[in-house]
This record gives sequence, structure tokens and C-alpha cells, in this order.
Amino acid sequence: MEPAEVASAVGQLMAEGKVRQLGVSNMSGAQIAFLQDRLEVPIVANQLEMSLHRRAWLESTVLVNHDDALGYSFPHGTLEHCVAQGIELQAYGSLAQGRYTGSTPDAPTAADAATSALVAELAEAKGVTPEAVLLGWLMKHPARISPVLGSSNPARIAACADAAAVAAAMTRAEWYGLWVAARGSKLP
Ligand SMILES: NC(=O)c1ccc[n+]([C@@H]2O[C@H](COP(=O)([O-])OP(=O)(O)OC[C@H]3O[C@@H](n4cnc5c(N)ncnc54)[C@H](OP(=O)(O)O)[C@@H]3O)[C@@H](O)[C@H]2O)c1
Repeated sequence: MEPAEVASAVGQLMAEGKVRQLGVSNMSGAQIAFLQDRLEVPIVANQLEMSLHRRAWLESTVLVNHDDALGYSFPHGTLEHCVAQGIELQAYGSLAQGRYTGSTPDAPTAADAATSALVAELAEAKGVTPEAVLLGWLMKHPARISPVLGSSNPARIAACADAAAVAAAMTRAEWYGLWVAARGSKLP
């Protein structure tokens, strides 16, 4: 990356009215800071894969200096940098391709089955869809994560509608219960 070239191109595109705001994807906090240093406009969003299944962003926060961290690669300080700088965290793959909401993965594990069952149980108890529970779990995280939906299926999109309400009502016991179910073991 040549930050000065990017800054020049972004400046030109904004001046032409072709770009209104600038976001990045799959960047670490350090990379964002490096680029932001040369930009005249703020970076407003960072899009990362984050879900109950793809949890490196979360596991890395509790596995500092821990052997199990070897299974997870995520640059430390990225969430913290984005939150501190007011950069929206956008989660792609937020539905985990339906892994816990009705689509069976190629090689399902015991943790997958337990998580799907818990998601369904919570959805029934709350009178909402499993999708809303899954996305509500992401949105309850204090980093204020915004899920990006990959579905183009109207019914699936509608099933996500209650996610913010689910997040607001989700207890910490429910939130940690889902995390522990998905990881298949207790937290360290
Ligand atoms: N920034 C990046 O680097 C990056 C990388 C990848 C993706 N993205 C963006 O993020 C968006 C979301 O990513 P994603 O599509 O991987 O994630 P996703 O939202 O987790 O998955 C959506 C896919 O899973 C399917 N699905 C969901 N629930 C299902 C169920 N119960 N049964 C069967 N299929 C189910 C959907 O099918 P239906 O269409 O039938 O609902 C759709 O194909 C993409 O559209 C893209 O714009 C960004």
C-alpha cells in the first residue's frame, strides 16, 4: 500500500462526487492508522468476517498468552482501535452461511449441533427467528458491530429484522452461553 497514492485517489474521487465516505475491509488497527495518517478524510468503517462461527476477533481477546491462541489469527487491537476512533465495525459472513440456522455444514461438529439447538431454543423462548438470535448476539457485543447480510432471499432478510431488539433484550448469561456452545469448551 502506498498511503499517499491512496489519499490522492480518494481525494480526487470525493471531489468528483463519486465517493461520499471511505471504508476499508480486512484491515488491522495498525494498517488503518497507517493509512489514516495520510488521508484528509476519516475512515468510517472496517468490514471483517465476524460471526458466532468465525470468532477469531473474539477468541483472541481472551486467549492472550494462551496455547489455544495458536488456532486463531487476528491482529490484536483492531477492535479497540476501531471503537476508539469511531470506525464502524461491519461483520460480513454474519449468518455463518446458515450454519446455526438451518443449513447443515459439510462436517458438523458436536459444538455445531449444540449451538444450533441453543439458537433454536432461545428463538422459540423469545418468539423470534433463529437469524435474529444469531445477529442479536453479534450486535450485543460492546463494539457495536453492524452485521452485513449476504442473503438475497427476501424471506431470509425479513427473518433478520428483529436482531436489534434481540440484542437489546439479550442477557449476558444468554450471550456467554451461545459463545461457550459455539467454542465447544469453557472460557479460559
Ligand atoms: N469485505 C469482504 O472482504 C467481504 C468478503 C466476503 C463477503 N463480503 C460481503 O458480505 C456479505 C455477506 O457474506 P456471506 O454471503 O459470506 O455471509 P452470510 O450472510 O453469512 O451468508 C449468506 C449466505 O448463506 C446462505 N444462508 C444463510 N442462512 C441459510 C440457511 N438457513 N440455509 C441455507 N443457506 C443459508 C444464504 O443463502 P440465501 O441467499 O438463500 O439466503 C447466502 O448464500 C456478502 O454479500 C458480501 O457483500 C465482504
